[in-house]
Amino acid sequence: MALRDDFPILKREVNGHPLVYLDNAATTQKPQVVLDAMNDYYTLSNANVHRAVHTLAGEATEGYELCRTRLKSWFNAERAVITSGTTEAINLVAHGWGRANLKSGDVIVLTEMEHHSDIVPWQMLAEERGVELRYVPVLDDFTLDMDVYAASLEGAKLVCVVHTSNVLGVRNPLEEIIGIAHENEALVLIDAAQGVPHDRIDFKQFDADFMAFSAHKMCGPTGIGALLIKEEVFQTMQPFMGGGDMISTVTTEGSTYQTNEHKFEAGTPKIAEAIGWCAAFDWMSKLDLEKEHERLIGIARWVADELRSMDITVYGRHGPKDGAVVSFLHPTIHTEDLAHLLDARGFAVRTGHHCAQPLLNRFGISSAVRASFYLYNTMDEAQRFIVQLRDITERFG
Ligand SMILES: Cc1ncc(COP(=O)(O)O)c(C=O)c1O
Repeated sequence: MALRDDFPILKREVNGHPLVYLDNAATTQKPQVVLDAMNDYYTLSNANVHRAVHTLAGEATEGYELCRTRLKSWFNAERAVITSGTTEAINLVAHGWGRANLKSGDVIVLTEMEHHSDIVPWQMLAEERGVELRYVPVLDDFTLDMDVYAASLEGAKLVCVVHTSNVLGVRNPLEEIIGIAHENEALVLIDAAQGVPHDRIDFKQFDADFMAFSAHKMCGPTGIGALLIKEEVFQTMQPFMGGGDMISTVTTEGSTYQTNEHKFEAGTPKIAEAIGWCAAFDWMSKLDLEKEHERLIGIARWVADELRSMDITVYGRHGPKDGAVVSFLHPTIHTEDLAHLLDARGFAVRTGHHCAQPLLNRFGISSAVRASFYLYNTMDEAQRFIVQLRDITERFG
């Protein structure tokens, strides 16, 4: 597969075996063009942004702001605040919008399948402001209970929902969720950390109010992400981090703020990371993401079926739009033991609670093994994974 050549890390061996990287839902690998773009910035253009008039500062500013331009065009969005990742983007909504717009007794609707980063900020706000949190349950078929969802909206000001579960791979019925929320005059925040790597989302058409995601799950660098915001909602938000770059004027009596996205980007931003993310967008724009996703969900479905045939419990349904993520639990081999045994054969998988403890509790488990597939994974790797897993279960199961 030609695109594998773009990823130097895929050439390495792990424990004497070729690396088979199946931990893509945690973070994806970076193509050489991303590494080169970041290295070139530090080698040739390193300077701070938005401040000095010298040539390097101009190049750095242009590189950083180009990332915002790419975000807006890739997602068709009016406002794109650059954050450190999905987590900071959600915290920005909690502090920047929640504190300015919520009062005691208001309701936030969450789901049982949220990542901790879409639960904990709301719990903190609930404690501080007396906001009520309501959780939509997950049914036995791994989908959200949409009847409970519709019934939860009375008094709701915000609905927070994950685009695609990082554990189940289930892609939620977002169009329906957004429609029902807006009928009830609640805003909607989409945690799209696992959605954007596979799905070219048109934010305007989608009609969500906020969308949070991270670069590192779509071949970009760690430490950078974004929050897309609808224009009229953007105007109702207040900054929660103060400092350089976000102000218009400062006197000893007080400050005024910038009116654009900079007001939410206090301090020196993630310049090299923004330049690297741009290179990742450029690299990805050459691919047919829809076709790639079809291939990857096909691989995930095949792996899930093989696991079930080995009496391993699989959590997920692997429908056409779901994420290429297979979470599973062997009846007798401990998840960490299984991951170590796989690592010894070159396979990288994730274990643990996947930052989704309420979801794992819902299914009565505390840990699962997760294999997640991305653009450079092949059916051949999946087949080798199953061969090794069969061997391990025969020896140790
Ligand atoms: C669904 C989901 N939401 C949020 C996050 C948090 O992303 P980050 O750690 O990049 O902020 C993740 C990362 O695993 C995720 O999978």
